[in-house]
Amino acid sequence: MIRDDEILRLLKKDPSRFLSGQEISRRLKVTRTAVWKRVNHLRALGYKIESLTRSGYRLIQAPDLLTPSEIRPLLTTKWMGRAIHYFQSIDSTNSKAYQLALQGAKEGEVVIAESQMEGRGRLGRRWFSPSFLNLYLSLILRPPIPPHRASLITLMAAVATADAIQNYSGLLPQIKWPNDVLLRGRKVAGLLNEIQSEMDRIHFVILGIGVNLNMDEKMFPKEIRNMATSLKRERGETVSRKDFLLSLLAALEGWYETFLKEGGSPVLEAWRGWAKIEGKRVSVSSFGENLSGVSVDIDSDGALILETEEGERRRIVAGDVKYQSESLSN
Ligand code: BTN
Repeated sequence: MIRDDEILRLLKKDPSRFLSGQEISRRLKVTRTAVWKRVNHLRALGYKIESLTRSGYRLIQAPDLLTPSEIRPLLTTKWMGRAIHYFQSIDSTNSKAYQLALQGAKEGEVVIAESQMEGRGRLGRRWFSPSFLNLYLSLILRPPIPPHRASLITLMAAVATADAIQNYSGLLPQIKWPNDVLLRGRKVAGLLNEIQSEMDRIHFVILGIGVNLNMDEKMFPKEIRNMATSLKRERGETVSRKDFLLSLLAALEGWYETFLKEGGSPVLEAWRGWAKIEGKRVSVSSFGENLSGVSVDIDSDGALILETEEGERRRIVAGDVKYQSESLSN
C-alpha cells in the first residue's frame, strides 16, 4: 500500500515534468494499478493531477489541506507536530487529543481536523467549526510543572498565536485576558486548555487552538458576527491554512522551549506586550460575580489583578472580560 506522501513527494520534486506510472511503481515498489488507484484517491481529495497516455502523471495543483502529507515535508519544527493525527471531521480535536494523551501519546503530537461537529469553547460555549476554512488544532504537552502554573502554558499559547498572526499577516493582534486573540477588537482566535494532573504534577496539557482564517463576515452565525473576525476579513486576502499552521507550530515550539528553559518571565513579558491591559476599564464576570474597574496587571500565575470601583484589589483566576468602549482604542 502506498502512502499519499510518498507519491506526492515524487510528483512535487519536479512539478513541470511528467512522471510515468512505470517509474513511480518502480521507485515505490508497487504495481502500476496501485499507483493509478492512489492517483485517483488524491484526485478525490482535490489534487489536480494531469495524466497523459505515454508520459504519465503531473501534479498541477495541490489543495490547501492540512493532511500530514502536505504538512510534514514543510515543517520547520524540531519535534512539535512531527506526529499528526488528521481528521476530515471529528467531534472535537481537544476530546480526541485527551483520549490519545490518556493512551500515552507523546509530547508534541497534534490533532488537526478540517471540521468539528462539537467544537468546544471556554466556559461551556460552542466553537463554530465549519469545514476547510479555519484551523482547529489540539497539541499534547507534558510540562514538568505543578498544576498551579498551568495557566502560564495558556498565556504562552496566546503569545505564540499572536506572534504567528503577526508573522504571517503583518497585522497587529491584541490579547484579551485570559487568552482571546483579537484583531481590531474582534476575536480571531480562541484557546481552550485542559489539564490532567495530580496534586503536584501535571500528566498532560491539551492546548486547543481555534483560529478563524478564511471565514467571510456572512459565514459567522448572527449572534457572533459583530464580535468575531477572520484573518482573511482583516487582510482582504485568502490565507493559506497550511502556511499559517506551519508558522503557528514554529511559534509554539519556540515559546514552549523558552518557557521550559527560562520559566514564566519572558512569557509574561511578551503577553503584557500584546495585551496592554494596564489602566483599561473593564467589566469582569467570574464565577457568577460581576465586577468592574481598572485592570492593573497579571501576576506570575497569570491571574488578572483588578482594581474595583470601590478601590479594592481583586485577583481574578478565571472568567470573562469586557473592555468598556472608551478603552478599546489600542
Ligand atoms: C474559546 O472559547 O475562546 C476557546 C475556543 C477553542 C477552540 C478550539 S478549536 C480546536 C480545539 N478543539 C475544541 O473543541 N476547541 C478547541
